[in-house]
Amino acid sequence: MPHLISPSILAADFGQLAQDVQLLNRSAADWIHVDVMDGRFVPNISFGFSVIQAIQKHASLPLDVHLMIEEPEKYIEQFRAVGADTITVHYEACPHLHRTIQQIKATGAKAGVALNPHTPVVLLQDILADLDMVCLMSVNPGFGGQKFIEHTYQKTRALKEMITAVGSSCLIEIDGGVNQQNAPLLLQAGADVLVAGSFVFSAADPVQTIQALKDITVS
Ligand code: DX5
Ligand code: ZN
Repeated sequence: MPHLISPSILAADFGQLAQDVQLLNRSAADWIHVDVMDGRFVPNISFGFSVIQAIQKHASLPLDVHLMIEEPEKYIEQFRAVGADTITVHYEACPHLHRTIQQIKATGAKAGVALNPHTPVVLLQDILADLDMVCLMSVNPGFGGQKFIEHTYQKTRALKEMITAVGSSCLIEIDGGVNQQNAPLLLQAGADVLVAGSFVFSAADPVQTIQALKDITVS
């Protein structure tokens, strides 16, 4: 399967959100990554339902919603209602992760789990077969524009082995500090979906930057 590109709308210009969503629509992007932050699970607040609804109104691409919030189980149905196609919750925020994953699937959305940089992939062993995606955080969640953590390559390889061993079709998404240098190495390590925020939106030509990420080939 060719890899997918999921530009993060967090790095867009919120004063012209519709134009930036339309820019993604006409690019080689596969999904739109939507970062929700609550000021509790992470030390930053981004946006909520009404902004996602506005994004969805203009988007022709699936919304890849990344919940960096405590007690995500309280809001799953509402995120689905405003247009989430994939809903990713944090392992660290879900004491009853199996239940939360079933809750996401019951809405018809695809279910993902995100791991903070310090959380080992092996902790997903007993839930991997239930997941549509694992998101490996390659920065500490909370902010765009941070430096990529190199240990992510190792985690990606280890997770890929686990997924192959259970014969699952679970995707590996990498989120944080992705750029043209680390992207080929991540794909080689087994990544399926690359999130990119500041690298795309701070580029002189975001459409061409997305195309360049999409065009990477690995042997
Ligand atoms: C970080 C977010 C990321 C972020 C990525 O908390 O989850 O999705 O927007 O932005 P860059 O690509 O700038 O690191
Ligand atoms: Zn994210």
